[in-house]
Amino acid sequence: MAKRIALFAAVGLGVLGIAAARADGPDIITLRQTAFDLNNASFAYIRAVVKEKGDVKQLEAPGKAIARWASVIPTMFPAGSDKGKTKAKSEIWSDPAGFKKDADALQAASMKLADAAKAGDTEAVAAAAKSMGEACGACHRAYRER
Ligand code: HEC
Repeated sequence: MAKRIALFAAVGLGVLGIAAARADGPDIITLRQTAFDLNNASFAYIRAVVKEKGDVKQLEAPGKAIARWASVIPTMFPAGSDKGKTKAKSEIWSDPAGFKKDADALQAASMKLADAAKAGDTEAVAAAAKSMGEACGACHRAYRER
């Protein structure tokens, strides 16, 4: 009996532990870094297909995915998430409008790429991929530690 009570108590504490972890929400820094890593992989794929003059139609999905991510980048840097294992610069919080502008530039370029990919327009895809790379770089120069 005592054993059983102890077991219930342990399970109860375990559930409480999970509830507490949920209340804290997801680890936003790890979440955004993972998303950036996945974007990086998608973008590497886009560049490889462009370079090898492969079938650009398959780039519609990764283009859309990056555009979607770009539309939420500004929300991935809530107040307080400047502390911890992050390379985010304080300028993100002191200049939110500039940060959003850079995210918007990536979103626009990615949507252009997705549309051009859907249309099978290889040249337009290559041009949009170049704009995307510039958008990544511009934001990193201003808002990410080296
Ligand atoms: C609007 C700004 C912005 C844009 C646009 C942007 N990034 Fe970033 N990126 C950041 C910031 C800020 C960090 C640092 C995040 C952190 O450490 O919390 C980052 C981090 C990264 C990282 C490192 C993630 C890690 O594991 O630490 C990679 C890789 C990356 N970005 C790739 C890209 C690529 C590829 C693009 C374009 C397709 C891009 N980023 C566009 C702001 C941006």
